[in-house]
Amino acid sequence: MTLIVLNFKCYRESTGQEALRLAEICEDISRDYAVQMVVVPQVADIHAISETVKIPVYAQHVDGVGYGGFTGHVTAASLKAAGAAGSLINHSERRLKLAEVDAAISACRNAGLETIVCTNNVAVTRASAALEPDYVAVEPPELIGSGIPVSKANPSVIRDSVDAVKCIAPHVGVLCGAGITHGEDLRSALELGSIGVLLASGIIKAKDQRKALEDLVTGA
Ligand code: G3P
Repeated sequence: MTLIVLNFKCYRESTGQEALRLAEICEDISRDYAVQMVVVPQVADIHAISETVKIPVYAQHVDGVGYGGFTGHVTAASLKAAGAAGSLINHSERRLKLAEVDAAISACRNAGLETIVCTNNVAVTRASAALEPDYVAVEPPELIGSGIPVSKANPSVIRDSVDAVKCIAPHVGVLCGAGITHGEDLRSALELGSIGVLLASGIIKAKDQRKALEDLVTGA
């Protein structure tokens, strides 16, 4: 089943009550169009959303630390307790060092959370796949928020990432991100060998978020 991961980022249109409303729309889309939607709200919104919808709720970031004297960190255990099913790691707006990515994946694994590691090019995809997250999401940062789909602007980074992951860790799923908005973007992402997309502004900033999601999934 096609995987559609909607990163709520810190947009006004996907914060607090708006986040809850958007998550409910995503649940409707998941059910009505037989796609697997995952919502990725801000950490403070995770609990309320996970109590309201049945689709998976991921965090936008997790730190690879356990219990103890840490301040301002997000632990995998706290995410799990709040109802999260997984977390993004190393998003280009929340970059980590490789060792921190590794620690974050381990922390999630121990807590029973799934992981999506974001990467910016084929080399980083390779390094990330070797750490065996559940998914890698390939997102060239220059295309994020641009409305120019990576699947059109730079298809080779997706195709080559898919090939690299097949060799290194074939069970790791590859997602395609950056500038994905329309059904044709999703379709070309799937044609390039990804199993779905990670997206944000094309849906969240749309005048009608439900319609934007419907266009995405029905045009594919
Ligand atoms: O995490 C999704 C992301 O960075 C892509 O953003 O706005 O280009 O869909 P956007």
